[in-house]
Amino acid sequence: MHEFKSKRNSLYCENIKVLDLAKRFGTPLYVYSYHTLIGHFLKLKTAFHSLNPLICYSLKANSNLAILKALVDKGAGLDIVSGGELFRATQAGCPGERIVYASVGKTDREIEEAIHRKILFFNVESAAELENINRISKKLNTSTQVAIRINPDVEPKTHKYITTGKLTNKFGIDFKSAYQIFLLRRALSYVRISGIHIHIGSQITEAEPYLAAIKKVIEFVETLRKKGIFLEYLNIGGGLGIVYDRETPQTAENFAKKVLPLLKRSKLKIILEPGRFIVGNAGILVTRVLYIKNTPKKKFVIVDAAMNDLIRPALYGAYHTIIPLHCTPYTVHRTEKIDIVGPICESGDFFAKDRNLPKLKEGDFLAIMGAGAYAFSMASNYNSRCRAEEVLVVKDEVFIIRKREVREDLVRNEIVPAFLSGL
Ligand code: LLP
Repeated sequence: MHEFKSKRNSLYCENIKVLDLAKRFGTPLYVYSYHTLIGHFLKLKTAFHSLNPLICYSLKANSNLAILKALVDKGAGLDIVSGGELFRATQAGCPGERIVYASVGKTDREIEEAIHRKILFFNVESAAELENINRISKKLNTSTQVAIRINPDVEPKTHKYITTGKLTNKFGIDFKSAYQIFLLRRALSYVRISGIHIHIGSQITEAEPYLAAIKKVIEFVETLRKKGIFLEYLNIGGGLGIVYDRETPQTAENFAKKVLPLLKRSKLKIILEPGRFIVGNAGILVTRVLYIKNTPKKKFVIVDAAMNDLIRPALYGAYHTIIPLHCTPYTVHRTEKIDIVGPICESGDFFAKDRNLPKLKEGDFLAIMGAGAYAFSMASNYNSRCRAEEVLVVKDEVFIIRKREVREDLVRNEIVPAFLSGL
């Protein structure tokens, strides 16, 4: 599954001992495995090779330039959701024709920049947005390609905060309204609607919700065909789940086997937008035990990473496997029930609750697994904590891909008005 393996009771990332990285670079520390990253991208590419889809890595999962460059060099496109992500895509050298742009709230400036960058298409999320793209394209005297993001109203069976394809969610356009848009498309002469996009949610572990959504969309495409409306692209979004705990998500191969027959039937060019599947298990967060604290009700292990480094447990109650880096056969068998918490002033600042782990002591190091996706990219400076360093391991080599922030970074953009400085 990934290149983080235990050998002789030590955790390795590719050929490097994680403990050595923690000692050399300090903690908290994000460690990524290059070969896991690329391996997952290639797994998907291979599974779908008969359709030769464009795989647009969803860079919100992890937008570090080195990660983007690694994937773009292997032929990946990028799925973006903001002007900032467009900037990153450009910095990483991604060709415009491999960029797709979703988001319910694209600003005029963001739309103009993406048009200038000649992206493949916008995934349009409302009639108002479509009119706005038409207006801006007219001003720029250009024709802009778009796909309509359909909200297929299916249940993806995942956490409610990351469910996106139900009609109670803000995303996409329902079939009826989308049909009206297609019928009236000629009124908007500066946009070309050439595709359909869906993205039903994230961390989806079964193929069924995809099958349900794709079936609905293909019926819709056929209805449009009968009306003489022909499309070119079908973007099935991202959302493929990974293993954090005991999940048994579909492999790329199984997923492809199930959806390929349907996708082939559509006769459209297929686009996928995975984020987590590619990068989720390619990264870990390494942290050090600061204190052990016993209370009448609990035993807390206080570590130097916090919810500002990995917010998933606090935000979604997400489970992340935690591996002590000092495991010996002796300690493995002496487990106890503990809470692993960070130093932030919130009770939601935890990584594990009532978890059975080998007995830990101050100074021990822990690896929080599955921290490649939605960890650093959701990190903040809350409690004025500097964001941690990121390193990339390639076999026996390690590269710093983002320096640890320093105190000056925290106040870099802040200005104390002269009247407060007594000037
Ligand atoms: N495409 C669109 C339009 C999206 O909104 C997303 C994710 C993706 C693709 C990629 O989804 P993935 O393959 O990574 O599941 N912060 C949450 C996940 C939020 C996902 C947001 N949209 C988490 O930590 O679980």
